[in-house]
Amino acid sequence: MCGIVGYIGHKEAYPILVGGLRRLEYRGYDSAGVSVLHNGNIQTFKCKGKVSGLEALVSGAGVPEGTVGIGHTRWATHGPPNDVNAHPHTSGDGQLVMIHNGIIENYGTLREELTARGHQFNSDTDTEVLIHLIEDIRRNADVSIFEAVRIALNEVVGAYAIVVMDRNTPNQLIAAKKGSPLVVGIGREGDYYIASDATPIVEYTKNVVYLEEEEIAIVDVEEGFKLMDIKNRERTPYVQELELKLEALEKGGFEHFMLKEIYEQPRSVLDSMRGRLRPDVGRVELGGIRDYIKRFVHAKRIIILGCGTSWHAGLVGEYLFEDLARIPVEVEYASEFRYRNPVITEEDVVIAISQSGETADTLAAIELAKSKGATIIGICNVIGSSIPRATHAGSYTHAGPEIGVASTKAFTAQVTVLTLMALHVAREKGSITESRFHRLLIDLDAIPDKVERVLEKNEQIKFIADYYKNVSNALYLGRGYNFPVALEGALKLKEISYIHAEGYPAAEMKHGPIALIDEEMPVFFIAPRGGAYEKIVSNIQEVKARKGKIIAIVTEGEKQVKSMADHTIEIPDTDECLMPLLTVIPLQLLSYHVAVMRGCNVDQPRNLAKSVTVE
Ligand code: AGP
Ligand code: GLU
Repeated sequence: MCGIVGYIGHKEAYPILVGGLRRLEYRGYDSAGVSVLHNGNIQTFKCKGKVSGLEALVSGAGVPEGTVGIGHTRWATHGPPNDVNAHPHTSGDGQLVMIHNGIIENYGTLREELTARGHQFNSDTDTEVLIHLIEDIRRNADVSIFEAVRIALNEVVGAYAIVVMDRNTPNQLIAAKKGSPLVVGIGREGDYYIASDATPIVEYTKNVVYLEEEEIAIVDVEEGFKLMDIKNRERTPYVQELELKLEALEKGGFEHFMLKEIYEQPRSVLDSMRGRLRPDVGRVELGGIRDYIKRFVHAKRIIILGCGTSWHAGLVGEYLFEDLARIPVEVEYASEFRYRNPVITEEDVVIAISQSGETADTLAAIELAKSKGATIIGICNVIGSSIPRATHAGSYTHAGPEIGVASTKAFTAQVTVLTLMALHVAREKGSITESRFHRLLIDLDAIPDKVERVLEKNEQIKFIADYYKNVSNALYLGRGYNFPVALEGALKLKEISYIHAEGYPAAEMKHGPIALIDEEMPVFFIAPRGGAYEKIVSNIQEVKARKGKIIAIVTEGEKQVKSMADHTIEIPDTDECLMPLLTVIPLQLLSYHVAVMRGCNVDQPRNLAKSVTVE
């Protein structure tokens, strides 16, 4: 949950580092810093706040020269965001600097032991303890920087992605990974790029090596690239060619990445179905789970794991698999599942959903389920990330890079893949009629165009957002397939506009939350035709009777709700089980516009980061 960059080669390091940090800033932005080595001296610049603050600091002092360096954007876990706790951290003797993503869980014990040996610490962080441990080992054992790092990592409990730079070994950077992502880019001119993900690397090279668990990369500008593990065994690097394209990382003329990604959804939903949805031959083809389809069909239970928006997509998956494939489903917060000693059997199929593929809680929950013999199927967006590598099989969502911290196109892509999986399993099980199966294939095929039609309501939604931009609270209500959408709409509003919002099943209102209704309370109803439409009309009347403000998402041409609501947004009709793909769009746009009108940082909301790679 932070951004790590490193460079070693023949080009000036600083511009590469700061450009990389700007691309990674979505991963965390409590502070930023760089260290550059030149002629045996390490220059370090670091400060609280965003990369732009670091650039101002450096330009005031003079851009550091040097062709090897490291950089970091922080999402604080140990110690508040401030200049001292910013990375890179330096060893006591000033010889070493290090950047770190993750948590050193036994840092307290290590810090006590090192303090007893005379080490003094400047920061509150766990990271500083690790660089002092490496220094301590290197000095006492008189070993190479690689060996000192390797020995130190055998003493560490926790997660790390680190890069260590040693002023006495100017031709090397040492990178190591466990639990947090790290990728090495192999440049065309004998230079190397290290980063938390491929986005800072792709403009320089497409040849990358994703480090595996407990691997250590010795990146040597003279000797080349060598891969070891913490047990000192040599590993063979698997060089992959990136499919990522640079233009996919730019805003493309939109004011924010989030708006760009909302508008990309007609294409990203289409991409998530490409080659998989075959209405022409009446089939769903999911090659990624082909070898496990029988496990799916005979599953006694499906457990869906995820966090945040991915958990909401999982809730839609519950309705899909139970409705279409008639398989019992449990949807679990990964963070709860991993610690509640769950009952897991070999007959369970687990679906793990994650945009980043690096969410620590989801990864840990997967490992737990795998250890109990369950079959693990992944639905991820980032190719080659840790979660796909931890599963038995799966399907990528192919939504393209999602840079905005608030997840939008990943959600609709996840729901699309879940729909394809549920349809595929239902057909294999014979739990769906041929006519419904074929009709759903055709309806699903029409979704990208219908998403486009919903996006055309943007100006009307912006007008509604202006009405409600200053509220303090909001309620989102939906039923059936749209209950998870109510939760997702509430999360979108609260995470980027900081307005308190809650999602509920609409029928739940009378069990308490209706006490909240007054003329100050906007209530967003997801009320398309189909499902429990008549019931939700009653719920709207209950709110109306108590003077709540009603904003309703309805099916085009609907009149009854329209006559009661303060505002309505009309969307195209589709099958009830596909409705989440359309009803979520207005809620994404609404939260976006409210946040912009409130002057919030839409792409990098306070306290958040795009990928939660710490517990
Ligand atoms: C969604 O808008 C949030 N940014 C957050 O809840 C996110 O969905 C969650 O952290 C899970 O991330 P993942 O999909 O990458 O695992
Ligand atoms: N635990 C380290 C710190 O708090 C690293 C956090 C991160 O991953 O950014 O500084």
